[in-house]
Amino acid sequence: MRPENLKTRIFLDGADPEETRQVIKTLGFLDGQTTNPSLLAKNPEAETHKVAGNKFSSVAIYDFYKTLCQELSELLPEGSISIEVYADATTSVAAMLEQSRAFDTWISNAHIKLPTTAAGLEAASILTGEGRRVNMTLVFSQAQAAAVYAATKGARRGSVFLSPFVGRLDDRGENGMDLIKNILKMYAASDTHVEVLTASVRSMGHFLCALAMGSDIITAPAKILLAWAALGCPVPGAEYVYESGSFAPIPYEPLTLDAPWQSYAIGHPLTDSGIAKFASDWNSLIDMGA
Ligand code: E4P
Repeated sequence: MRPENLKTRIFLDGADPEETRQVIKTLGFLDGQTTNPSLLAKNPEAETHKVAGNKFSSVAIYDFYKTLCQELSELLPEGSISIEVYADATTSVAAMLEQSRAFDTWISNAHIKLPTTAAGLEAASILTGEGRRVNMTLVFSQAQAAAVYAATKGARRGSVFLSPFVGRLDDRGENGMDLIKNILKMYAASDTHVEVLTASVRSMGHFLCALAMGSDIITAPAKILLAWAALGCPVPGAEYVYESGSFAPIPYEPLTLDAPWQSYAIGHPLTDSGIAKFASDWNSLIDMGA
């Protein structure tokens, strides 16, 4: 059952409907699910397909993703399902828009995941202007969070998620949880149309710290959600002490949110490498000759 004092929405990070069923059964609730191309490549059916040497055609991969999202949507009809566009370094705004509009016909509760790049932000600005929902992914800096806020200004609350990736910052020795703290501080006096979705959660420490900080949403792998359930679903408050070990602190930047989105320093090397990895995992499922 959902703890009474839980304000944060809890999402599952994964692409296996069996996991979704198990988490719903064990937790007694689940508010949504996030998928991405790397998780799709780990879906048991996709893996079996790949191991047997049966790659998808570039059309069939979208049919497979669609069927999966429809199954997740049936399991979580009141929740949100994040569906990620295929994007590499050269993908145009038009190509992102075409995929996004198609995803929106698959299910009625989609948030379209777009990379936090100039092309992704331009697409987000257009899509939110059409009343669609987006989840801006691969966020690694406060400047990117400010750009997302500015690019989607005017969107209603609930239609824009911002996904900062804490684990991948930890991987390079920076305290990823500081980025969550800094973005929440920067957004505190805003119109709250952008909700912070803590992503790339790798440990119980990440999960509990994001709860204690008051992240709007957290997405976490099944093993973390099941471990949280085994602990009795604790919801720590401001007293929670996060052990950041030897990670370097990420200082707060005093950015304003009212500049044109193009004026923020949007680039980040982890966004670029993240896009390349997602593209490569997606392409690993496809028979390029078909
Ligand atoms: C979710 O939306 C993200 O794609 C996911 O949390 C990334 O996690 P990872 O950094 O462990 O791949």
